[in-house]
Amino acid sequence: MNPEQLWTGVLMAVTPFLLFGLGGCYNIDTTSPLIFTDHHADSRFGQALTLHQHGSETMLVVGAPKGQCNYTDIVRGGVAYKCSFTNHNASLAGNCTELQLDNRGNDYSGLTGRQIYNKSDQWLGASMSSGGPNGSLVICRPRYRYYFYKSYGAQQQQRDLLGGCFVLTQENFDTPNILLPCITGGDRRCQFGFSVDAKKDHIVYGAVGLGRQEGQFWRSDSNGEERQKRPTKKVGGTKDYTYMGYAVTSGDFKGDSDPEYAISVPRHKQAFGKVVLYDSDLNEYNALENGDMGSYFGHTLVTSDLNNDGYDDLMVGAPFFTDSFSTNGSLWELGKVFIYYNDRNL
Ligand SMILES: *[C@@H]1O[C@H](CO)[C@@H](O)[C@H](O)[C@H]1NC(C)=O
Ligand SMILES: *[C@@H]1O[C@H](CO)[C@@H](O)[C@H](O)[C@H]1NC(C)=O
Ligand SMILES: *[C@@H]1O[C@H](CO)[C@@H](O)[C@H](O)[C@H]1NC(C)=O
Ligand SMILES: *[C@@H]1O[C@H](CO)[C@@H](O)[C@H](O)[C@H]1NC(C)=O
Ligand SMILES: *[C@@H]1O[C@H](CO)[C@@H](O)[C@H](O)[C@H]1NC(C)=O
Ligand SMILES: *[C@@H]1O[C@H](CO)[C@@H](O)[C@H](O)[C@H]1NC(C)=O
Repeated sequence: MNPEQLWTGVLMAVTPFLLFGLGGCYNIDTTSPLIFTDHHADSRFGQALTLHQHGSETMLVVGAPKGQCNYTDIVRGGVAYKCSFTNHNASLAGNCTELQLDNRGNDYSGLTGRQIYNKSDQWLGASMSSGGPNGSLVICRPRYRYYFYKSYGAQQQQRDLLGGCFVLTQENFDTPNILLPCITGGDRRCQFGFSVDAKKDHIVYGAVGLGRQEGQFWRSDSNGEERQKRPTKKVGGTKDYTYMGYAVTSGDFKGDSDPEYAISVPRHKQAFGKVVLYDSDLNEYNALENGDMGSYFGHTLVTSDLNNDGYDDLMVGAPFFTDSFSTNGSLWELGKVFIYYNDRNL
């Protein structure tokens, strides 16, 4: 489980006790939390959250994908904040500072000073993941746009949602690696970094936008280098709008100490959805198909060794799963979460 998901789990677990005031039993001080917030309205501060350890510094990294950074020509491009909580005294205000990721405003280096990349509305901080203590911190901007001017005479332009991510490593924390893989290779509408999961030795990225939103996923080493990608496969009819890479995770499912990858395709086959398992050579070896129509099976994925048997288990969320109420049998979108335990005998 990555720290972002762990934190979400912790927050969800403590919420009932906050509501019912039973905190005393659990040693959680429910009356005076340490609070972090943004200075700009409507920034969606807290949409993504991860814990990261960089050397001796432990930080809470908070994404505010509609936040305003200090470059005024970038309108609500999103901000990733680094928040410190070394001082646990809750009567103080939490301190967050903007992570300076690319140190540049918008890019006007096109012909006659035209803007060729647009960082406004790029959703920086919409997805992020930490590779663990002293590992890589990955922060993505899935709506980073590239303008392709079809005709230099007119103002005709094609806007491509490239997406992209920043990889902050132990060595290069202040000058992150800028990943923009979809600028080459034919399809610029890739929305790279729509989802991301960093582990100690590798990073996996979802890119839902390839082609007609059929999507793909990428894997890299922990620096964001040595990238490889896999597109979705056409299975029975169309693969358009299947959104492969909506969620991604990795774990040692096979128990061979190499990583395997779980990649969701939530709109696969009339939106029944599936989660495809890839081995460490990125070959598909299995798939989970337990969704119903429109359930968004694979909206969320979490890997963790839940039963402590040394093998990673996989959790899959399907927030729009339709089922009948146990009381009266009427059908409703109740949502479902599936746990697939690792059966080491399979
Ligand atoms: C992380 O790096 C710091 C300083 O370089 C070191 O003291 C610490 O032990 C490292 N932590 C881990 C888990 O490797
Ligand atoms: C934004 O803030 C950072 C950190 O305070 C600073 O280094 C940088 O120069 C600022 N950029 C602009 C355009 O003001
Ligand atoms: C915030 O920063 C100030 C100034 O450095 C410091 O005094 C204060 O303790 C910090 N607050 C927290 C919660 O760490
Ligand atoms: C917490 O900070 C407040 C305000 O600065 C101070 O009055 C109080 O003594 C601090 N509490 C502790 C335990 O340090
Ligand atoms: C960049 O994006 C912003 C927000 O979407 C938009 O207002 C602005 O016109 C865009 N710039 C160009 C050159 O299209
Ligand atoms: C069944 O129960 C749910 C939850 O109480 C309620 O919203 C729904 O209207 C009920 N359906 C019927 C047919 O009574």
